[in-house]
Amino acid sequence: MEIIIAPNYEAMSKTSAAIIAREIRRKHDLVLGLATGDTPIGTYRELAKLHKDEGLDFSKITTFNLDEYLGLAPLHRNSYNYFMWENLFEHINTSQHRAFVPQGNTVDPEEFCAWYEEQIRKAGGIDLQVLGIGRDGHIGFNEPGSSFASRTRVKGLYEQTIKDNARFFEKEEDVPRFAITMGVGTIMEAKKILLIANGEGKAEVCQQFIEGPVTSQITATALQLHSYAIVVLDEEAASKLKRREYYNWIRDNKHIVQKQIGR
Ligand code: GLP
Repeated sequence: MEIIIAPNYEAMSKTSAAIIAREIRRKHDLVLGLATGDTPIGTYRELAKLHKDEGLDFSKITTFNLDEYLGLAPLHRNSYNYFMWENLFEHINTSQHRAFVPQGNTVDPEEFCAWYEEQIRKAGGIDLQVLGIGRDGHIGFNEPGSSFASRTRVKGLYEQTIKDNARFFEKEEDVPRFAITMGVGTIMEAKKILLIANGEGKAEVCQQFIEGPVTSQITATALQLHSYAIVVLDEEAASKLKRREYYNWIRDNKHIVQKQIGR
């Protein structure tokens, strides 16, 4: 895992947007996996800016969102589909037909999940998957104990997740108790992974998933087994890392190696 510690939320957002933009410029028909939550809002704002100011072209890319609350219709104000349109899709030139978000109000979740997996496969697999992290270490909605081999499916939400996500709803009781989420196995098949995290509230879980043992109790630890995972943190989220000096030294000196191998 490559760990990049940025001084603050703005720098974290700019760095992660630059990584996504680099992949889009390299491959115009990139298959991009997307996440929701407060964390990526700044990154999406930066991407919209790159589209407006530098003409970054999203017209050929395909996107797949990680998850969606079960029971919420796509136009529900609290749905992740609504979030994506409000925070990103409306501000870039994405094709509506290639912006996939799990359908929360599907009548047959099992069939839908199989269909979603099939669409990812048909698109050629995910090139770059963007992730946030929950305070219990979840990626997508893969709560503690989710198998590393899991595929897109319905998952019951952990109590802490319900509490954490209650801030987006009028009251805690309104938070759906189930969600459709890509599995850890689905996420791990992405060719590249970018996880972003900010704030003090994520410091402990970031230390655990980066430097602790691999365990399905913290599903983000699966990333330790991925061949190309980049983690971008702000100072607060990185504050409990034990090897931060080392990560910073690598960040500041990797140009030496890049020069040698002519990248
Ligand atoms: C939700 C989403 C996750 C996201 C997490 C963190 O539970 N399912 O994909 O990473 O929230 O959200 P935030 O960025 O708001 O802390």
